[in-house]
Amino acid sequence: MNTTPTPKQNLIFGNALQFKPKDFHLALRKWADELGGVYKFRIITKDMYVVSSPAEIEYLLTNRPKKFSRSSKLSSILNEVSLNGLFTAEGSSWAKQKRLMTSSFSNKQLTTYFPKLELITNRLISHIKMNTTRLDMRNLFTRYTIDVTSSFSFGDDVNTIENSDKMSVKHLNFIFEVIGERVTKPFPTWRYIKTKKDRKLIESVSYIKNYVTEYIDKANKRMESTAVGSAPTNILEAMILAGRQEDHPFTNEELFGNVITLLLAGEDTTANVLSWCFFYLSQNPAILKELRESLAHLGKVSSMESLEDLPFLESVINETMRLKPVAPFLILENLEDTELSGHKISKNSTIVANISYNHFNSTYFESPYSFKPSRWLEQKNQNTDKVFIPFGSGARLCIGKKLSLLEMKLAIVEIVRSFDFKLDCAADEICEEFNFTLNPNKLPMIFSPL
Ligand code: HEM
Repeated sequence: MNTTPTPKQNLIFGNALQFKPKDFHLALRKWADELGGVYKFRIITKDMYVVSSPAEIEYLLTNRPKKFSRSSKLSSILNEVSLNGLFTAEGSSWAKQKRLMTSSFSNKQLTTYFPKLELITNRLISHIKMNTTRLDMRNLFTRYTIDVTSSFSFGDDVNTIENSDKMSVKHLNFIFEVIGERVTKPFPTWRYIKTKKDRKLIESVSYIKNYVTEYIDKANKRMESTAVGSAPTNILEAMILAGRQEDHPFTNEELFGNVITLLLAGEDTTANVLSWCFFYLSQNPAILKELRESLAHLGKVSSMESLEDLPFLESVINETMRLKPVAPFLILENLEDTELSGHKISKNSTIVANISYNHFNSTYFESPYSFKPSRWLEQKNQNTDKVFIPFGSGARLCIGKKLSLLEMKLAIVEIVRSFDFKLDCAADEICEEFNFTLNPNKLPMIFSPL
């Protein structure tokens, strides 16, 4: 049996004082460079194993749900704020939810949804047209993804693009901000002492619960009164229908947990990839030109199919997600004693699958720190699918992958065809921060219509 290497540790704090929460992903990467494919570090009393080698990561992800689950610490933080949906569910409850929800994200459902996505994207373009001088694009992309996810999930046209101070959005953003802080805290202080922020969180969760419950009631009524076989108009209705057809209806708690899970999972992830993409395009005029040229043959985009065969656009998105993996690692737990590369890991340990580690490995990606979308065209037949899994892999693969790719493609196509743009600050002022997802600290941009 191998002794698992560890970074140098402080006797009391372990490695807790050696990184800032916002740089957690960088610490994991640096230690993997020094210590190899499997190592462990310690936060006060808690050991965490980190797995960075592709074969072991594949083993972890494909042996779910039987041998590995999501981290119970992460799940309890999310469940405390009623986010008990597909992301945190385990065992038979997860299997039921995944099976029933998968149909809600089908191509058929996305095709039905496309006209609404088009409407929201047109609003995004009009908003940029009217505010070309200085736009905080990180904020605007977040509003775009909130609008898309809300209308897709429960049919609400919140329109935060044109109206940024909706109460529901303020409460949601506050909930997400606190989750981000709690996930990176070494100790769950909020369970023992409630600060003003913790009390405000309870109010926000209650507001959102009432708000979403109205939509659940509406969707229940609509699905009861509409004819058998009529198409659901949003995920909430699709979940209700799928549950009824299989005789395993979702409970109201499950419906609520899933609606806000989708809002959380669908908002920052997609908004951050879009933000990073426009950061890179603004810094690489030749690549922007090539992208525009690759889209020149496209007429009006009015269906999902028109966005299907656009290899250069897909390469730009892949390259963005390679260099800025918005979900850089996954935190898991082993349900039984495990051995990984000769390292014995006892049951219920925390295991971090460092899924983005090999994005920066020159064995797989030549000049790994350069933004070079064309590598994805050249590498088409090479084996990068084991080391490039930005949406995860195995049974717990991201359910929103197709929706987010569709959303990102449409936004990029329409912005790139309508505007020239540049960063409104020095490029080195833009830094990455880990706040549950990997976001840029800001993204001020100036636009000019083409
Ligand atoms: C660029 C955008 C996105 C990225 C990079 C991303 C990434 C991920 C990753 C890495 C996972 C964990 C997979 C695993 O454990 O193997 C995940 C799970 C999940 N994602 Fe996404 N995601 C994105 C967008 C979305 C959207 C738009 C939605 C829904 C509206 C969504 C909903 C979910 C849900 C519900 C899960 C849990 C699936 C399960 O546990 O079975 N995601 N996502």
